[in-house]
Amino acid sequence: MKTVFVLNGPNLNLLGTREPAVYGAHTLADVEALCADTCQKLGLKLEFRQSNHEGTLVDWLHEAGRLHASGELLGVVFNAGAYTHTSVALHDATKGTGITLIELHISNVHAREAFRHHSYLAPAARGVICGLGVAGYPLAIEALTRI
Ligand code: DQA
Repeated sequence: MKTVFVLNGPNLNLLGTREPAVYGAHTLADVEALCADTCQKLGLKLEFRQSNHEGTLVDWLHEAGRLHASGELLGVVFNAGAYTHTSVALHDATKGTGITLIELHISNVHAREAFRHHSYLAPAARGVICGLGVAGYPLAIEALTRI
């Protein structure tokens, strides 16, 4: 059984109360349940995590990289939150580990402020899903089984 990492960056622990007009009413626990259901149906093991700390996210990408190297990882779904737009470290960790990573955003970042239009992760990602609300998470997991 292969493992899927679903990683969430800063402020995603506030889902449900944070700008509901932008991010909707679902909590992070709801998103985890959605991902768990999808992984169960697809016969995958889920590692679902959230951190507000860039270095912790780097460490988790390295952990995913070790599983990738041993053939146990299917891939990573990563909503890096605001670090998407600022973090060379997350770009380097993604490239350096060779993991298959799908960048994910709940909102359509391209329809928002200009500072959200650039992603440091996108050039290192296999694909990007954005603007589909929390429905993007199960779609990203399923995409990992198809690519
Ligand atoms: C986000 C979009 C980012 O621009 C923002 O900083 C977030 C959430 C999203 O899921 O839409 O924290 O990644």
